[in-house]
Amino acid sequence: MARVLITRRLPFPALDRLAAAGHDLDVWPGELPPPPDRLRELARDAEGLLCLLTDRVDDALLDAAPRLRAIAVMAVGTDNVDLEACRRRGIPVGSTPGVLTEATADLAFALLLAAARRLLEAAAAIPAGKWRTWEPAAHLGADVHGATLGIVGYGRIGQAVARRAQGFDMRIVTTRDTELTALLETADFVTLHVPLTERTRHLIDADALERMKPTAILVNTSRGGVVDQAALADALHRGAIAGAALDVTDPEPLPASDPLLAAPHLLVVPHIGSATHSTRARMADLAVDNLLAALAAEPMPHPAA
Ligand code: GLV
Repeated sequence: MARVLITRRLPFPALDRLAAAGHDLDVWPGELPPPPDRLRELARDAEGLLCLLTDRVDDALLDAAPRLRAIAVMAVGTDNVDLEACRRRGIPVGSTPGVLTEATADLAFALLLAAARRLLEAAAAIPAGKWRTWEPAAHLGADVHGATLGIVGYGRIGQAVARRAQGFDMRIVTTRDTELTALLETADFVTLHVPLTERTRHLIDADALERMKPTAILVNTSRGGVVDQAALADALHRGAIAGAALDVTDPEPLPASDPLLAAPHLLVVPHIGSATHSTRARMADLAVDNLLAALAAEPMPHPAA
């Protein structure tokens, strides 16, 4: 039996398997993540940790949790975890790959379509009393069918987006077969599917945005840090690109006062890529599988890369 700290209430049956295995669950009751100092206190006696992408797992936390022997992140991205610090201490870290691929690709495509066809603007016109008649030149957007989609990062999610794009008769270019600069110069839509690492931080910077077509739209469902947001705001204000649709920002949550939100042709949603009932339940399942294995001194089935 091990003491397992869970950093948020998770309404999924997977947790019952942890309890059924005899583990002692300590669930943070707050609706917001525990502040770092509180997390350090709570982790003092924990042997297992089930955390979310909102929790920072770094040397300070690991030093405060000397008994920790398993960390399961309920996310596929693990940039919130200092993997090297965990490796040094021999603590295995697991993630939840695969199960959120399709839901995230669905959202990337939803954002792409919404931005291309200016759905939010058009819908907002109705309650504002601005729908006067059928107007020949109102709410004009961009064609998705037949357009060129640039996919930056051609892993599981990038490939799932490509499958959707095929149904829209899009031409697909990816960073697997094309240099990023050439992709940016040719794509009508650029969608980001790389993990956040030191190499990908601000991959889409002022120079990258400058290479995009003035008619192009940027979609980001990866991590906010992949885009230089100040450069993006500037590009949108200047009309250097036609629009952006983001599921992720830096920081998260993005304060309502953030200058990015004043940029035109911008759609932001609050990191909901994996937010479907079944996907979140399956993510909880994988996180629990990882914890159960490591607490039984077995290899995690889904180790973080
Ligand atoms: C969500 O962003 C995840 O990494 O699972």
